Amino acid sequence: MAIQWFPGHMHLTQKAVEKRLKDIDVVIELLDARLPGSSANPMLAELTGHKPGLKVLNKQDLADPAVTALWLAHYDAQAQTRAIGLDASQATPARQLIDACHQLAPSRGGMAKPMRVLICGIPNVGKSTLINTLTGSRKAKTGDEAGITKLEQRIVLADDFYLWDTPGMLWPRIIVAQSGYNLAASGAVGRNAFDEEEVALELLRYLQRHYAGLVEARFKLAPIAGLGDEEVLEAIGRKRGALLGKGKVNLQKAAEVVMHEFRSGNLGRITLERPDEFAQWLAAGQLVDAEREAKKEARRRKRPANGPETL
Ligand code: G4P
Repeated sequence: MAIQWFPGHMHLTQKAVEKRLKDIDVVIELLDARLPGSSANPMLAELTGHKPGLKVLNKQDLADPAVTALWLAHYDAQAQTRAIGLDASQATPARQLIDACHQLAPSRGGMAKPMRVLICGIPNVGKSTLINTLTGSRKAKTGDEAGITKLEQRIVLADDFYLWDTPGMLWPRIIVAQSGYNLAASGAVGRNAFDEEEVALELLRYLQRHYAGLVEARFKLAPIAGLGDEEVLEAIGRKRGALLGKGKVNLQKAAEVVMHEFRSGNLGRITLERPDEFAQWLAAGQLVDAEREAKKEARRRKRPANGPETL
C-alpha cells in the first residue's frame, strides 16, 4: 500500500527546523508509544543527528507497557539519547521533560545559558495536548518576536528553559510498508489516503499474532487462532451487526469498527511494533527502496538526452 503524504507546510517545517537547530541544545521527538518506529521521522534524524535527543513515547496509556519498556531500553542504549513514557493523564509533565533534558545537556542551565529545546512530532501524536498541559494558563508566544516564524511558538517552561514548537510533519516517503498500515491504524494519516478494509485486515493479522486474547474478549469471539484475517473481520462484523442483505457482512463497516476499537483503546493496551521487529522491516524497506532507486537511475541513464522520462 502506498501511503504518501507530504503537505506543503511540511517543506516549510523542514526549513524552520533547519534554521532553528543551530541554537538548540536538545531535540525532543514525540513518538506514538503504540508505533514508536513508524511514528519517528527519518528526516528529522537526518537534520538533527548530532544533537542530543529525548524520545518521548506519548500516549503510553494506550500502549502495551511491556513493549514500551523494550522501546525505552532500546533508545536509552543509543548515544546522546534518552527516552521517557508519557500520556495526557500526567498533570505535570514539565518536570520529567526538564530533568531528562538536563541529563542530556548538563552544561546548560541558569539565565546565562538557558536550555533551548526543540519539540517535534508527526501529526496526531499528541503534541498540542502536551503543549496545552505544559503552558497551562500561560499564553504561548506565537510569531511575535524577531526570528520566530509564524510556524513556531516559544514556550517558557522555566526562567532558564525554552521550548520551541514546530508544527507536525511527516516524512516524504514511507519506505516501510508496515509503517503505512500502522500510521493509518493509529489515526495519523488522513482517512482519504488509505483503504480502511486493507488497513483493518493488516491490523487484525498483527493482533491475531500478538493480542488474540484481547480481540476475542472485546468482540466475544471463539478462539481466532487459525482463522484467516478476512474470517476474523467477518466474525467481528457479524457480532456487531455490520450486515448487508442475505447474511453478507459489510466489511467496510466491520473495518471501521475494528479501527475505532483499536484507536480508542477499547481493545486494550496494544503496541504494533517491537524494536527488533521494526529493525527488520526497516532493513527490508531500505533494500527495496535502494533497488527501486537503482532501477530509476538506470532508466535515467538509458534515456536519450532530453528524452521523456518513463516512470
Ligand atoms: P497533535 O497536536 O500531535 O496533532 O495531536 P493532538 O494533541 O491534537 O492529539 C491527537 C489526539 O490524541 C486527540 O484526540 C487527543 O485527545 C489524543 N491524545 C493526546 N494525548 C493523548 C494521550 O496521552 N493518551 C490518549 N489516549 N490520547 C491522547 P482526538 O480524538 O483527535 O481529539 P479529542 O477527542 O481529544 O478532541
